[in-house]
Formats: sequence, structure tokens, C-alpha cells
Amino acid sequence: MYSTRELQDEIIRLKKEKDVCILVHAYQSHDIWEVADYVGDSYGLSRQAANASQKTVLMCGVRFMAETVKILSPEKKVILSHKDAGCPMAEQMDAELISGVKEKYPDYTVVAYINTTSELKTVCDVCVTSSSAVQIVKNIENPNILFIPDCNLGRWVADQVPEKNIKLLQGGCPTHVRMSVKDVEEAKKAHPDALLLVHPECLPKVTALADYKGSTTGIMDYAKKSDAKEFIIGTENSIVQHLQFECPEKSFYPLSKDCVCHNMKLTTLGDVYRCVLGTGGEEIVMDEEVRRKAGRCINTMLTLGG
Ligand code: 13P
Ligand code: SF4
Repeated sequence: MYSTRELQDEIIRLKKEKDVCILVHAYQSHDIWEVADYVGDSYGLSRQAANASQKTVLMCGVRFMAETVKILSPEKKVILSHKDAGCPMAEQMDAELISGVKEKYPDYTVVAYINTTSELKTVCDVCVTSSSAVQIVKNIENPNILFIPDCNLGRWVADQVPEKNIKLLQGGCPTHVRMSVKDVEEAKKAHPDALLLVHPECLPKVTALADYKGSTTGIMDYAKKSDAKEFIIGTENSIVQHLQFECPEKSFYPLSKDCVCHNMKLTTLGDVYRCVLGTGGEEIVMDEEVRRKAGRCINTMLTLGG
């Protein structure tokens, strides 16, 4: 039997021996953070994926993230930490549906949240993430934008880029939309001095009440730099745990006990161990034409996102 520390030490030894880069999304648990080469939000992970020098990349997160790594680094072996870790939002719209919508709106630039399948990205123009969406939409020349699939994130972008004509479709993150105005009222009542920090995947009526809105790492940076001592966190609850490690002198409270992404939480430290050993996870294999076409969308994001 291994202790957490022993298993982590073994993973760190094996990743060096086998030349594996471990990329970890911020919604993974803290024991997994501690063995990472890089931890970040979706945008940071995409940038890092393009730069990793190792021959194998292990993505601890969900499927679209591992696909993004493969799209950017086709020569690398890319492993998804748990074969069943998908993103329900990524499955909400497919290429056929969006091709039909594009026929109705031929003058629109199709902006796809990175939380989409590779097949869907092949019919889109540019990807965005929560931390890059506003800047990228501003940088697109066309005033007409079709933003998919997250209408809450899309509305948040539209509010900040009023000069664009942004059309939205009805999609979103089932984890973040669980948080309600009632949750805000109850949390503020319980913690009247705390600042409310929320992710833009939340419902607009919830983000409207926040002191800060931003991506996962945006929320973490804000909490770390702020002089305030208490924070209500309106995103996946692992961020509450990570912030507690980063700033033990401050207090962090979840906006809702239910804001847990069960797909992100499928991966355990044992899965990471088996992946670096070469017996776990799933290797990402992708059709070359899909990879190339979806890659246009992701590379445009990296160019316009700066
Ligand atoms: P960010 O990583 O851009 O904050 O997005 C959150 C998310 O839902 C990832 O799946
Ligand atoms: Fe998908 Fe939401 Fe989970 Fe992110 S938090 S992976 S958007 S379901």
C-alpha cells in the first residue's frame, strides 16, 4: 500500500523516466495538482500543450482538452487521464446542427467555446476560452458573430463587446448553471463580508451579483491578490480547496455545495499513476482531416488571443 505522498513520488519519478508531461486542469483535485508540470485554465493548457517538449502528454481533465493537445501536437502521444471523462456541454451541439445554422446566417463568424468536440470545431471559424473570449471577439473583424455553445458565457462576452452583433444558441455547462440567486442570497447572508467571485458559465442573473467574473485562473488570481479576507467562490468547488492551500490565512466558501463537475472528478491519483506507467487512460487517436480542420480554429484562437 502507498501513501498519497509515496504515490506522488512514484508518479514524479516515472514521468521523468518516461518523458511524460502532465497537464492538469484547475478542476482536478489537489493531490493531482502536486504532480503536474503545468496547472491552468483551458487557455493556459492550450498554450502549454503547444510548447511541451516531452514526447508524451498526459491530460488530466476532460476529452476536449486532450483532443486540443493532439490537434496542436500531432507528433506526440496524448493520453486522456480517464476514458469516460467527457464534457456534457461539448456534446450539446454537433457539426450537422451548426452547418444548418450557418446556412441561415452565412455572414456570421462562428465562434466556438473550446468546450466542443473536434468534429464540431471543423465547421467553426475560431475557438475561445473563458479567459480569452472577450479579447478574441474584439479582435475579429466581422461585426456579426455566432457564439456557441454556451449562451451564458456568450451573453457575458456580448455585454463587454457591445459593438458586435452576437447571436447565441441555447447551450451551457450543467455544473455552473446549478448555482442560483437563492444560493447567492444564502451565501451572502452567511458571509456578509465575503466577496463573490464567479465564472461566466454561470447564469447571467448570478454573474450580475458578483464582485468579480472571470475564468478559473482569473478567479484564483483575483482572490490571491485581493486585500479581502473572505470569498464566496462561484465555480467548480475544487477551486475552493486549491485557494485554501494557496492562501491559508484567507477563508473560501463554495457558492453551492452542488457545483461539482463529476467528469473532472473521475480522474484519481491512481489513474495518473497507471497513465504514467503506460497501462491507464486512453490514447487520443484522431482522423487527420478532422485534426487539420479543427486545428485552424484553435490556431486562430492562439493568434487572436495573444
Ligand atoms: P476555464 O478553464 O476556461 O476557466 O473553463 C472552465 C471549464 O469549464 C473547463 O471545462
Ligand atoms: Fe464541461 Fe462544465 Fe465540467 Fe467544464 S465544468 S468540463 S464545462 S461540464
